[in-house]
Amino acid sequence: MKAQNIIAAKRDGQELADSDIRQFVAGYTSGEIADYQMSAFLMAAYIRGLSFDETTSLTLAMIESGKVLDLSSIAATKVDKHSTGGIGDKTTLALVPMLAACGFTVPKMSGRGLGFTGGTVDKLESIPGFNTTLSLERFVKQLAEIGAAIAGQSSEITPADKMIYALRDVTATVDSIPLIAASIMSKKIACSGEVILLDVKVGSGAFMKTIERARELSNTMVAIGTNLNRRVGALITDMSQPLGRAIGNALEMSEAIETLRGRGPADFTGLCVELCAVLINLAEPDCNMTQAIDRARESLDSGVASAKFAEIVEAQGGDIRVLDDPSLLPQANIVHSVCSRSAGVVSRIDAAGIGEAASALGAGRQRKENGIDPAVGVLIEKKIGDTVKSGDVLAIIHGNDPTAVDCADKIIRRCYTVGAEANIPPLIVERI
Ligand code: URA
Repeated sequence: MKAQNIIAAKRDGQELADSDIRQFVAGYTSGEIADYQMSAFLMAAYIRGLSFDETTSLTLAMIESGKVLDLSSIAATKVDKHSTGGIGDKTTLALVPMLAACGFTVPKMSGRGLGFTGGTVDKLESIPGFNTTLSLERFVKQLAEIGAAIAGQSSEITPADKMIYALRDVTATVDSIPLIAASIMSKKIACSGEVILLDVKVGSGAFMKTIERARELSNTMVAIGTNLNRRVGALITDMSQPLGRAIGNALEMSEAIETLRGRGPADFTGLCVELCAVLINLAEPDCNMTQAIDRARESLDSGVASAKFAEIVEAQGGDIRVLDDPSLLPQANIVHSVCSRSAGVVSRIDAAGIGEAASALGAGRQRKENGIDPAVGVLIEKKIGDTVKSGDVLAIIHGNDPTAVDCADKIIRRCYTVGAEANIPPLIVERI
């Protein structure tokens, strides 16, 4: 079918054949189909939706546009996780070494931060010397040698997704469940994870604002992966307040290091243990959740996960001294406390607003080409359910520019609601 006929069929609500979708994506990747035609297709898909079969075809088409990692020489089970992203979500930094410590191979490709959510690659690069640009050969070699590698998304894997995502970003077509599901699952499958866990965030600081949308995205991704012979599970987890205490690249890195040493905040540690345990349980169904939680905790308590992280940092050229002395990570010049003007219980923290404050300080980028300041960010001192007195510190700003610190102070103040009582949201909302 000609490109315009495929667009017209989708515009008119018809279901496209697998061959039409694969031909359309291949044509776009090779340059035969123009940006404006792909944009029209994406808008038609956004408005009309895609059936499950169409979403699977789109996933396969994006996988076929590039290389698929060949990890067949590695005997261990390959496990991967993906988080849909949120404020203070540094889970990958702790979970990858925990999983490697549990005997799995973890091929982790991650993104940079855009908007108010941070990216794993930016957080890792706050470690002096840490190299996140690995060739596929080096990535696979490191996996074979130490069982884990964390790198930026390779341009050789699912290049069609990269091109299509850039168009979606500027054509108001990001927020579509089938398009998000195909985008995420194509990358996960091309990275050869045999067992995949999706951490779908829900709440004010997440892409998915409601449980219904989070459930729909989770079910779609689990079904795509299962259909393509992967063992896939999803956890819907809370993002109605920032995860852990730290938001900002070096601050989050430092919190992940502390967590690997067993000194992390309870909510973040609990989430890492739960995600690790669910992956163990998916990979080894004979290991029930109680046993899996014990194994996940043991990876932290024994120091094996922390040692594994040191191996990853060393293999990727990072300065391993930061693991013993996080003060060697970039430090901000200004440390400013935001104090409460009222007394009561913290009943709400606007997670997206805290992300905006961190962005205003320079921790995030508005455009892909912008730089970031690794040192700046926010430490949350009071979380939902904590009691506060007037004058108590709600949050601590780490900044390098007095005007930005002032602006972040105002934003953070607006993010906190101190009232008479609070409903503490459960961290794990649902397992799919
Ligand atoms: N993350 C992705 O990788 N793709 C999307 O479409 C949205 C979030």
